[in-house]
Amino acid sequence: MEKFNVGVLGIGDISDVYLSNLKKYDIVNVVACASRGIEKAKKKASQHNIPKAYASAAELIADPEIDIVLNLTTPAAHAELNIAALKAGKHVYTEKPLAATLEEGKIIMALAKEKGLYVGSAPDTFLGGRLQTCRKLIDDGVIGDVIGVSAFVVSHGHEWFHPNPDYFYKQGAGPIMDIGPYYISAILSLIGPIKTVSAMSKRSFDIRTIESEPRKGQTFEVEVDTHITANMEFANGAIGTIIASFDVWDSELPRIEIYGTKGTICIDDIDPVDGPNLFGGKVLLRTRENYRWTSLPRKKPYSDWIDVPVEHQFNSTSHAENSRGIGLVEMAYAIRGKRQERASGEMALHSLEVMEGILKSAKEKAYCDIKSTFTRPEPLPVDFPKSE
Ligand SMILES: NC(=O)c1ccc[n+]([C@@H]2O[C@H](COP(=O)([O-])OP(=O)(O)OC[C@H]3O[C@@H](n4cnc5c(N)ncnc54)[C@H](O)[C@@H]3O)[C@@H](O)[C@H]2O)c1
Repeated sequence: MEKFNVGVLGIGDISDVYLSNLKKYDIVNVVACASRGIEKAKKKASQHNIPKAYASAAELIADPEIDIVLNLTTPAAHAELNIAALKAGKHVYTEKPLAATLEEGKIIMALAKEKGLYVGSAPDTFLGGRLQTCRKLIDDGVIGDVIGVSAFVVSHGHEWFHPNPDYFYKQGAGPIMDIGPYYISAILSLIGPIKTVSAMSKRSFDIRTIESEPRKGQTFEVEVDTHITANMEFANGAIGTIIASFDVWDSELPRIEIYGTKGTICIDDIDPVDGPNLFGGKVLLRTRENYRWTSLPRKKPYSDWIDVPVEHQFNSTSHAENSRGIGLVEMAYAIRGKRQERASGEMALHSLEVMEGILKSAKEKAYCDIKSTFTRPEPLPVDFPKSE
Protein backbone atom coordinates (compact mmCIF):
# COMPACT_ATOMS: atom_id res chain seq x y z
CA MET A 1 0.00 0.00 0.00
CA GLU A 2 1.28 3.46 -0.93
CA LYS A 3 2.04 5.48 2.20
CA PHE A 4 2.72 9.17 2.59
CA ASN A 5 5.43 10.82 4.67
CA VAL A 6 4.16 13.90 6.47
CA GLY A 7 6.19 16.88 7.71
CA VAL A 8 4.54 19.18 10.27
CA LEU A 9 5.10 22.93 10.25
CA GLY A 10 4.15 24.82 13.43
CA ILE A 11 3.95 22.87 16.61
CA GLY A 12 1.85 25.03 18.91
CA ASP A 13 -1.42 24.55 20.76
CA ILE A 14 -3.23 22.42 18.17
CA SER A 15 -0.33 20.16 17.13
CA ASP A 16 -0.59 17.46 19.83
CA VAL A 17 -4.06 16.32 18.83
CA TYR A 18 -2.99 16.07 15.17
CA LEU A 19 0.18 14.17 16.04
CA SER A 20 -1.66 11.73 18.31
CA ASN A 21 -4.42 11.10 15.76
CA LEU A 22 -2.16 10.61 12.73
CA LYS A 23 -0.42 7.71 14.52
CA LYS A 24 -3.67 5.72 14.21
CA TYR A 25 -3.56 5.55 10.39
CA ASP A 26 -1.08 3.47 8.38
CA ILE A 27 -1.47 5.55 5.24
CA VAL A 28 0.39 8.49 6.82
CA ASN A 29 3.68 8.55 8.66
CA VAL A 30 4.89 11.73 10.39
CA VAL A 31 8.63 11.87 9.69
CA ALA A 32 9.53 15.45 10.66
CA CYS A 33 8.40 18.56 12.48
CA ALA A 34 9.68 22.14 12.38
CA SER A 35 9.41 25.19 14.53
CA ARG A 36 11.11 28.55 14.65
CA GLY A 37 14.02 27.21 16.71
CA ILE A 38 15.47 23.74 17.07
CA GLU A 39 14.91 23.19 20.80
CA LYS A 40 11.11 23.38 20.58
CA ALA A 41 11.11 21.16 17.49
CA LYS A 42 13.36 18.56 19.16
CA LYS A 43 11.15 18.50 22.24
CA LYS A 44 7.99 17.91 20.17
CA ALA A 45 9.77 15.29 18.04
CA SER A 46 10.85 13.30 21.10
CA GLN A 47 7.38 13.62 22.69
CA HIS A 48 5.74 12.04 19.60
CA ASN A 49 8.58 9.77 18.36
CA ILE A 50 9.08 11.84 15.22
CA PRO A 51 12.45 10.94 13.62
CA LYS A 52 13.50 14.42 12.42
CA ALA A 53 13.30 17.92 13.92
CA TYR A 54 14.06 21.08 11.94
CA ALA A 55 14.84 24.62 13.11
CA SER A 56 12.87 26.27 10.29
CA ALA A 57 10.01 25.70 7.87
CA ALA A 58 12.40 26.07 4.92
CA GLU A 59 14.55 23.13 6.08
CA LEU A 60 11.51 20.86 6.46
CA ILE A 61 10.09 21.87 3.09
CA ALA A 62 13.45 21.02 1.46
CA ASP A 63 13.42 17.46 2.88
CA PRO A 64 13.03 15.12 -0.14
CA GLU A 65 11.53 12.36 2.03
CA ILE A 66 8.37 14.42 2.73
CA ASP A 67 5.29 13.91 0.53
CA ILE A 68 2.71 16.01 2.40
CA VAL A 69 3.32 19.20 4.39
CA LEU A 70 0.88 19.68 7.27
CA ASN A 71 0.75 23.41 7.97
CA LEU A 72 -0.23 24.16 11.59
CA THR A 73 1.26 27.64 11.77
CA THR A 74 -0.73 30.78 12.56
CA PRO A 75 -2.99 32.16 9.77
CA ALA A 76 -0.68 34.98 8.66
CA ALA A 77 2.02 32.40 7.77
CA HIS A 78 -0.29 29.95 5.95
CA ALA A 79 -0.03 31.32 2.39
CA GLU A 80 3.74 31.80 2.31
CA LEU A 81 4.40 28.28 3.64
CA ASN A 82 1.67 26.58 1.57
CA ILE A 83 3.15 28.19 -1.56
CA ALA A 84 6.73 27.23 -0.61
CA ALA A 85 5.68 23.61 0.02
CA LEU A 86 3.86 23.39 -3.34
CA LYS A 87 6.85 24.93 -5.15
CA ALA A 88 8.97 22.16 -3.58
CA GLY A 89 6.58 19.56 -5.07
CA LYS A 90 4.79 18.61 -1.82
CA HIS A 91 1.07 18.10 -1.34
CA VAL A 92 -0.31 20.42 1.37
CA TYR A 93 -2.88 20.05 4.12
CA THR A 94 -3.31 23.31 5.99
CA GLU A 95 -5.08 24.49 9.09
CA LYS A 96 -7.72 27.07 8.36
CA PRO A 97 -7.96 29.51 6.77
CA LEU A 98 -6.34 28.33 3.52
CA ALA A 99 -4.73 31.79 3.41
CA ALA A 100 -5.31 35.14 5.09
CA THR A 101 -6.62 36.66 1.85
CA LEU A 102 -8.58 35.44 -1.18
CA GLU A 103 -5.80 36.62 -3.53
CA GLU A 104 -3.27 34.42 -1.71
CA GLY A 105 -5.76 31.54 -1.68
CA LYS A 106 -6.15 31.80 -5.46
CA ILE A 107 -2.36 31.72 -5.92
CA ILE A 108 -2.16 28.55 -3.78
CA MET A 109 -4.89 26.76 -5.74
CA ALA A 110 -3.54 27.85 -9.14
CA LEU A 111 -0.08 26.60 -8.20
CA ALA A 112 -1.46 23.26 -6.99
CA LYS A 113 -3.34 22.85 -10.27
CA GLU A 114 -0.27 23.73 -12.33
CA LYS A 115 1.86 21.23 -10.41
CA GLY A 116 -0.75 18.48 -10.17
CA LEU A 117 -0.58 18.53 -6.36
CA TYR A 118 -3.31 18.22 -3.71
CA VAL A 119 -4.27 20.99 -1.29
CA GLY A 120 -6.57 20.02 1.55
CA SER A 121 -7.72 22.32 4.32
CA ALA A 122 -9.22 22.22 7.79
CA PRO A 123 -11.84 22.40 9.14
CA ASP A 124 -12.47 18.67 8.80
CA THR A 125 -15.16 18.70 11.48
CA PHE A 126 -17.82 18.37 8.75
CA LEU A 127 -16.51 14.80 8.34
CA GLY A 128 -17.46 14.12 11.98
CA GLY A 129 -20.44 12.07 13.13
CA ARG A 130 -22.69 15.01 13.91
CA LEU A 131 -22.51 16.78 10.54
CA GLN A 132 -22.41 13.53 8.54
CA THR A 133 -25.68 12.58 10.25
CA CYS A 134 -27.17 15.95 9.22
CA ARG A 135 -25.90 15.30 5.69
CA LYS A 136 -27.64 11.91 5.60
CA LEU A 137 -30.93 13.44 6.79
CA ILE A 138 -30.73 16.00 3.96
CA ASP A 139 -29.63 13.46 1.32
CA ASP A 140 -32.42 11.08 2.39
CA GLY A 141 -34.97 13.88 1.92
CA VAL A 142 -36.07 13.82 5.59
CA ILE A 143 -36.36 17.63 5.78
CA GLY A 144 -37.38 18.02 2.11
CA ASP A 145 -35.78 20.80 0.05
CA VAL A 146 -33.50 23.09 2.04
CA ILE A 147 -35.08 26.54 2.40
CA GLY A 148 -32.58 28.21 4.66
CA VAL A 149 -30.05 28.08 7.47
CA SER A 150 -29.21 30.08 10.58
CA ALA A 151 -25.82 29.94 12.30
CA PHE A 152 -24.80 31.59 15.55
CA VAL A 153 -21.14 31.57 16.52
CA VAL A 154 -20.94 33.89 19.47
CA SER A 155 -18.69 34.16 22.52
CA HIS A 156 -16.54 36.71 24.31
CA GLY A 157 -13.40 35.70 22.46
CA HIS A 158 -10.35 33.48 22.98
CA GLU A 159 -8.46 35.43 25.64
CA TRP A 160 -10.10 33.22 28.27
CA PHE A 161 -8.26 29.99 27.39
CA HIS A 162 -5.59 30.47 24.71
CA PRO A 163 -2.02 31.19 25.91
CA ASN A 164 -1.41 33.59 22.97
CA PRO A 165 -4.83 34.96 21.98
CA ASP A 166 -3.53 38.05 20.11
CA TYR A 167 -3.62 36.43 16.67
CA PHE A 168 -7.36 35.83 16.87
CA TYR A 169 -7.80 39.63 16.63
CA LYS A 170 -5.39 40.29 13.74
CA GLN A 171 -5.95 40.38 9.96
CA GLY A 172 -6.74 36.87 8.75
CA ALA A 173 -8.54 36.00 12.01
CA GLY A 174 -11.49 37.59 13.89
CA PRO A 175 -14.77 35.72 14.43
CA ILE A 176 -15.50 35.26 10.72
CA MET A 177 -12.04 34.14 9.62
CA ASP A 178 -11.09 32.17 12.75
CA ILE A 179 -14.16 30.34 14.02
CA GLY A 180 -16.41 31.14 11.05
CA PRO A 181 -14.71 28.49 8.83
CA TYR A 182 -16.19 25.68 10.98
CA TYR A 183 -19.67 27.05 10.49
CA ILE A 184 -19.24 28.03 6.86
CA SER A 185 -17.64 24.70 5.85
CA ALA A 186 -20.42 22.86 7.73
CA ILE A 187 -23.04 24.88 5.87
CA LEU A 188 -21.26 24.52 2.49
CA SER A 189 -20.89 20.75 2.91
CA LEU A 190 -24.63 20.49 3.68
CA ILE A 191 -26.17 23.03 1.30
CA GLY A 192 -23.54 23.68 -1.40
CA PRO A 193 -22.04 26.84 -2.93
CA ILE A 194 -23.04 30.40 -1.99
CA LYS A 195 -23.60 32.98 -4.72
CA THR A 196 -24.19 36.26 -2.85
CA VAL A 197 -23.53 37.64 0.64
CA SER A 198 -24.39 40.85 2.49
CA ALA A 199 -23.33 41.93 5.97
CA MET A 200 -22.88 44.53 8.68
CA SER A 201 -20.04 44.53 11.20
CA LYS A 202 -18.58 46.43 14.14
CA ARG A 203 -15.71 46.38 16.63
CA SER A 204 -17.10 46.77 20.15
CA PHE A 205 -13.74 46.72 21.99
CA ASP A 206 -10.53 48.27 20.58
CA ILE A 207 -8.36 46.76 23.35
CA ARG A 208 -8.68 43.27 24.87
CA THR A 209 -7.19 41.98 28.12
CA ILE A 210 -5.71 38.47 28.32
CA GLU A 211 -7.49 36.43 31.01
CA SER A 212 -5.46 33.20 30.58
CA GLU A 213 -2.00 32.22 31.81
CA PRO A 214 0.90 32.82 31.27
CA ARG A 215 0.19 36.39 30.03
CA LYS A 216 -2.81 37.15 32.27
CA GLY A 217 -3.40 40.91 32.57
CA GLN A 218 -1.54 41.92 29.38
CA THR A 219 -3.53 43.91 26.82
CA PHE A 220 -3.42 44.05 23.03
CA GLU A 221 -5.03 46.01 20.19
CA VAL A 222 -7.88 44.59 18.12
CA GLU A 223 -7.27 44.93 14.33
CA VAL A 224 -10.51 43.41 12.97
CA ASP A 225 -14.27 43.79 13.41
CA THR A 226 -15.51 41.43 16.09
CA HIS A 227 -19.31 41.47 15.76
CA ILE A 228 -20.71 40.51 12.35
CA THR A 229 -24.17 39.70 11.06
CA ALA A 230 -24.39 38.37 7.49
CA ASN A 231 -26.85 36.97 4.97
CA MET A 232 -26.08 34.30 2.36
CA GLU A 233 -27.88 33.26 -0.82
CA PHE A 234 -27.04 29.75 -2.02
CA ALA A 235 -26.80 28.52 -5.62
CA ASN A 236 -29.71 26.12 -4.91
CA GLY A 237 -31.98 29.01 -3.90
CA ALA A 238 -31.77 28.59 -0.10
CA ILE A 239 -30.99 31.68 1.99
CA GLY A 240 -29.24 31.93 5.34
CA THR A 241 -27.98 34.09 8.19
CA ILE A 242 -24.80 33.92 10.25
CA ILE A 243 -23.98 35.94 13.37
CA ALA A 244 -20.31 35.68 14.34
CA SER A 245 -19.03 37.52 17.38
CA PHE A 246 -16.25 37.75 19.94
CA ASP A 247 -18.20 40.49 21.77
CA VAL A 248 -21.15 38.61 23.24
CA TRP A 249 -21.55 37.64 26.91
CA ASP A 250 -23.26 34.31 26.20
CA SER A 251 -26.38 33.41 24.27
CA GLU A 252 -29.03 30.68 24.30
CA LEU A 253 -29.29 30.53 20.51
CA PRO A 254 -28.61 27.17 18.84
CA ARG A 255 -25.38 26.86 16.83
CA ILE A 256 -26.91 25.87 13.47
CA GLU A 257 -30.45 25.29 12.27
CA ILE A 258 -31.24 24.01 8.78
CA TYR A 259 -34.76 24.63 7.55
CA GLY A 260 -36.36 22.37 4.96
CA THR A 261 -39.79 22.12 3.35
CA LYS A 262 -40.56 19.10 5.58
CA GLY A 263 -38.60 19.75 8.75
CA THR A 264 -35.80 21.44 10.72
CA ILE A 265 -32.43 20.06 11.80
CA CYS A 266 -30.87 21.66 14.87
CA ILE A 267 -27.34 21.52 16.20
CA ASP A 268 -27.88 22.90 19.67
CA ASP A 269 -25.43 24.35 22.16
CA ILE A 270 -26.52 22.18 25.09
CA ASP A 271 -25.05 18.73 24.53
CA PRO A 272 -22.21 19.30 23.92
CA VAL A 273 -21.82 22.94 24.88
CA ASP A 274 -20.50 23.92 21.47
CA GLY A 275 -21.17 23.71 17.76
CA PRO A 276 -19.69 22.43 14.51
CA ASN A 277 -16.16 23.11 15.73
CA LEU A 278 -16.54 19.77 17.51
CA PHE A 279 -16.82 16.47 15.61
CA GLY A 280 -19.63 14.93 17.62
CA GLY A 281 -22.82 15.91 19.39
CA LYS A 282 -26.56 15.68 19.22
CA VAL A 283 -28.57 16.07 16.02
CA LEU A 284 -32.12 17.24 16.73
CA LEU A 285 -34.96 16.96 14.25
CA ARG A 286 -38.42 18.42 14.08
CA THR A 287 -40.86 17.56 11.29
CA ARG A 288 -44.53 18.15 10.50
CA GLU A 289 -45.32 15.02 12.53
CA ASN A 290 -43.97 16.49 15.78
CA TYR A 291 -44.46 20.19 14.98
CA ARG A 292 -45.30 22.40 17.98
CA TRP A 293 -47.95 24.96 17.01
CA THR A 294 -47.14 28.16 18.90
CA SER A 295 -50.28 28.13 21.05
CA LEU A 296 -49.12 24.89 22.68
CA PRO A 297 -47.10 25.34 25.87
CA ARG A 298 -43.28 25.24 25.42
CA LYS A 299 -41.68 22.34 27.26
CA LYS A 300 -38.03 22.20 28.35
CA PRO A 301 -36.01 23.32 25.29
CA TYR A 302 -35.67 20.51 22.74
CA SER A 303 -37.41 17.94 24.98
CA ASP A 304 -39.95 17.16 22.26
CA TRP A 305 -37.51 17.15 19.32
CA ILE A 306 -36.34 13.83 17.82
CA ASP A 307 -32.84 13.00 19.04
CA VAL A 308 -31.46 11.38 15.86
CA PRO A 309 -29.03 8.51 16.55
CA VAL A 310 -25.52 9.30 15.30
CA GLU A 311 -24.20 6.17 13.61
CA HIS A 312 -21.17 7.73 11.98
CA GLN A 313 -17.79 7.52 13.67
CA PHE A 314 -15.57 10.50 14.60
CA ASN A 315 -18.15 11.56 17.11
CA SER A 316 -16.18 12.91 20.06
CA THR A 317 -17.73 15.79 21.97
CA SER A 318 -14.45 16.71 23.63
CA HIS A 319 -12.39 19.77 22.71
CA ALA A 320 -9.16 18.07 23.75
CA GLU A 321 -9.74 14.61 22.28
CA ASN A 322 -11.17 15.03 18.82
CA SER A 323 -10.57 13.70 15.32
CA ARG A 324 -8.55 16.62 13.91
CA GLY A 325 -6.44 15.35 11.02
CA ILE A 326 -9.07 13.02 9.57
CA GLY A 327 -9.25 15.43 6.60
CA LEU A 328 -5.53 14.87 5.97
CA VAL A 329 -5.91 11.09 6.26
CA GLU A 330 -8.84 11.21 3.83
CA MET A 331 -6.74 13.36 1.46
CA ALA A 332 -3.97 10.72 1.54
CA TYR A 333 -6.53 8.09 0.43
CA ALA A 334 -7.72 10.52 -2.28
CA ILE A 335 -4.16 10.99 -3.58
CA ARG A 336 -3.70 7.24 -3.66
CA GLY A 337 -7.04 6.74 -5.41
CA LYS A 338 -6.48 9.73 -7.75
CA ARG A 339 -9.83 11.23 -6.75
CA GLN A 340 -11.08 14.52 -5.23
CA GLU A 341 -10.37 14.94 -1.52
CA ARG A 342 -13.29 15.82 0.75
CA ALA A 343 -11.80 18.59 2.95
CA SER A 344 -10.76 20.24 -0.29
CA GLY A 345 -8.75 23.33 -1.04
CA GLU A 346 -11.48 24.14 -3.58
CA MET A 347 -14.12 24.31 -0.82
CA ALA A 348 -11.69 26.21 1.45
CA LEU A 349 -11.10 28.78 -1.31
CA HIS A 350 -14.86 29.23 -1.73
CA SER A 351 -15.20 29.54 2.05
CA LEU A 352 -12.43 32.17 2.02
CA GLU A 353 -14.21 34.12 -0.72
CA VAL A 354 -17.46 33.96 1.29
CA MET A 355 -15.70 35.17 4.45
CA GLU A 356 -13.88 37.95 2.63
CA GLY A 357 -17.13 38.82 0.81
CA ILE A 358 -18.92 39.15 4.17
CA LEU A 359 -16.26 41.53 5.49
CA LYS A 360 -16.18 43.47 2.18
CA SER A 361 -19.98 43.76 2.10
CA ALA A 362 -19.98 45.14 5.65
CA LYS A 363 -17.27 47.67 4.81
CA GLU A 364 -18.77 48.81 1.50
CA LYS A 365 -22.42 48.49 2.58
CA ALA A 366 -23.20 46.55 -0.62
CA TYR A 367 -24.13 43.01 -1.71
CA CYS A 368 -21.12 40.97 -2.73
CA ASP A 369 -21.32 38.29 -5.44
CA ILE A 370 -19.21 35.16 -4.90
CA LYS A 371 -17.49 34.06 -8.10
CA SER A 372 -15.91 30.76 -7.09
CA THR A 373 -17.70 27.47 -6.67
CA PHE A 374 -16.80 23.94 -5.55
CA THR A 375 -17.94 20.36 -5.82
CA ARG A 376 -19.84 19.40 -2.67
CA PRO A 377 -17.81 16.69 -0.89
CA GLU A 378 -19.21 13.16 -1.02
CA PRO A 379 -20.56 11.89 2.32
CA LEU A 380 -17.94 10.00 4.35
CA PRO A 381 -18.72 6.26 4.45
CA VAL A 382 -19.67 5.03 7.93
CA ASP A 383 -16.80 2.50 7.79
CA PHE A 384 -14.10 4.89 6.52
CA PRO A 385 -11.26 4.12 5.81
CA LYS A 386 -12.32 0.55 4.99
CA SER A 387 -14.62 2.13 2.41
CA GLU A 388 -13.50 5.46 1.10
N1 LIG B 1 -5.66 26.36 19.19
C1 LIG B 1 -6.85 25.97 18.77
O1 LIG B 1 -7.79 25.77 19.56
C2 LIG B 1 -7.08 25.73 17.30
C3 LIG B 1 -8.14 24.92 16.97
C4 LIG B 1 -8.33 24.61 15.64
C5 LIG B 1 -7.53 25.18 14.67
N2 LIG B 1 -6.53 26.03 15.00
C6 LIG B 1 -5.72 26.59 13.92
O2 LIG B 1 -4.45 25.96 13.97
C7 LIG B 1 -3.43 26.88 13.57
C8 LIG B 1 -2.41 26.96 14.67
O3 LIG B 1 -3.07 27.40 15.84
P1 LIG B 1 -2.39 27.21 17.28
O4 LIG B 1 -3.46 27.59 18.23
O5 LIG B 1 -1.74 25.88 17.39
O6 LIG B 1 -1.30 28.39 17.23
P2 LIG B 1 0.00 28.54 18.15
O7 LIG B 1 0.33 30.00 18.14
O8 LIG B 1 -0.18 27.85 19.45
O9 LIG B 1 1.09 27.72 17.31
C9 LIG B 1 1.49 28.11 16.01
C10 LIG B 1 2.91 27.63 15.81
O10 LIG B 1 3.33 28.01 14.50
C11 LIG B 1 4.67 28.46 14.59
N3 LIG B 1 4.95 29.30 13.44
C12 LIG B 1 4.35 30.47 13.07
N4 LIG B 1 4.93 30.95 11.95
C13 LIG B 1 5.89 30.05 11.59
C14 LIG B 1 6.84 29.98 10.54
N5 LIG B 1 6.90 30.94 9.62
N6 LIG B 1 7.66 28.91 10.49
C15 LIG B 1 7.58 27.93 11.41
N7 LIG B 1 6.74 27.93 12.45
C16 LIG B 1 5.91 29.00 12.53
C17 LIG B 1 4.73 29.19 15.91
O11 LIG B 1 6.08 29.29 16.36
C18 LIG B 1 3.90 28.25 16.79
O12 LIG B 1 4.68 27.21 17.33
C19 LIG B 1 -4.15 28.19 13.24
O13 LIG B 1 -4.37 28.27 11.86
C20 LIG B 1 -5.49 28.07 13.96
O14 LIG B 1 -6.50 28.78 13.27
C21 LIG B 1 -6.26 26.28 16.30
